[in-house]
Amino acid sequence: MKVLVVGQGGREHALVWKLATSPLVSDVFCAPGNAGTHEDAVNVDVGPGDFDRLIRFAKHEKIDLTVVGPEAPLVGGLVDAFENEGLRIFGPSAKAAELEGSKAFSKDLMRQANVPTADYRVFDSAKAAVSYVEDRSEQPLVVKADGLAAGKGVSVCANRAEAIAAICRMMINEEFGAAGRRIVVEECLAGQEASILAVVDGKNILTLEASQDHKPAFDDDRGPNTGGMGAYSPAPIVDAAAMDRIIEKILVPTVHTLRKAGRPFRGVLYAGLMMTPQGPRVLEFNVRFGDPEAQPVLMRLKSDLAAVLLAAVDGKLDELPPLEWDPRPAVCVVMASAGYPGPYEKGHPIRGLRAAGELPEVKVFHAGTVRRGDQVVTDGGRVLGVTALGESIADAKLRAYRAVKHIRWDGAWCRKDISDKARQPLA
Ligand code: AMP
Ligand code: GLY
Repeated sequence: MKVLVVGQGGREHALVWKLATSPLVSDVFCAPGNAGTHEDAVNVDVGPGDFDRLIRFAKHEKIDLTVVGPEAPLVGGLVDAFENEGLRIFGPSAKAAELEGSKAFSKDLMRQANVPTADYRVFDSAKAAVSYVEDRSEQPLVVKADGLAAGKGVSVCANRAEAIAAICRMMINEEFGAAGRRIVVEECLAGQEASILAVVDGKNILTLEASQDHKPAFDDDRGPNTGGMGAYSPAPIVDAAAMDRIIEKILVPTVHTLRKAGRPFRGVLYAGLMMTPQGPRVLEFNVRFGDPEAQPVLMRLKSDLAAVLLAAVDGKLDELPPLEWDPRPAVCVVMASAGYPGPYEKGHPIRGLRAAGELPEVKVFHAGTVRRGDQVVTDGGRVLGVTALGESIADAKLRAYRAVKHIRWDGAWCRKDISDKARQPLA
């Protein structure tokens, strides 16, 4: 079977790498891919937004299954476009992807499905939003742009003044363009976060093992939010009882309500959760694998991912045997360019990739890299996801950072505390 992965980040490299190990898969292509997917697959020079050329390529190469990594093409209808041409593709339709494409839609669906989440209000005018905030007692609030904003559209505000400033940035200065013309203002939740990824075939739900992302740029969760500076799996905070509760109270009602609304969900449903003393609460839904969560989660998956994704496309997840997991934890440390998540330079040659990749139980997933002649050079803010398995979380962390030490480029940096939260006593 020939597989095409759409996207170019660390998640897509992990997907390519895992799919290439499947006995069902003969060829893996990645559009457009990066220097890492070039090692594990054949890169195709077509961007994720170029639907016509992706379809032409899939037809010409007789691709049997296309897997979409990022959210933008899903929200834009790539899956619908492929299905209209009779091509098999894993991912939600545009109507189901609205769960990530519109935070207002997602919150309203949660309210309808009785899914636990922060209390919220939706606003289409800055004036109404500001007067709502002014009328409330002083308390932390979260202001969210409705549409896609590359993970930057959320402001956690400590007080009224910060919330009003965030509303003005989004609705008056239009910092996120059309994505911020409508906003959600919600209650601020406290606790530890966890990411739950589930493969869904419209009706059946197959949860993957839990993971935890590290969104703030700097150690101890300080600094601006990023796309994610590292992740680990499993997440001890999500024990078996919590997972049962998440399935029962969150995943099942969400999938059921989407189906009833004529938006059946097929793809990866990603629930970003706050584990509060009152139980898990949804912070956001995404409609695809998490990045960097996919890297440690897929490194631990022993089952054949291609078989799982095919079963999801065909509505037959209930016919699969239970997933098999490597019991060992995995830790992924993101190495980033100087300046990220702000402006950064590209084109710095990366040294030490081979030495790092040869260490036992280590896989260096590429995110923002490109080949230039014989060299691999930086090409993004998040450059690499250095991932390792270990006998314990501490051991996996040690192995990942040992690999990080081999890798160098001008301005490379990473957080030093990825996975430490897993080993702290829970508050
Ligand atoms: P989102 O893109 O909605 O996941 O938000 C990005 C980050 O903002 C989350 O990972 C949380 O750290 C934080 N966040 C979002 N919503 C809330 C909330 N209601 N309370 C506290 N933190 C939040
Ligand atoms: N790691 C966060 C995300 O994939 O949205």
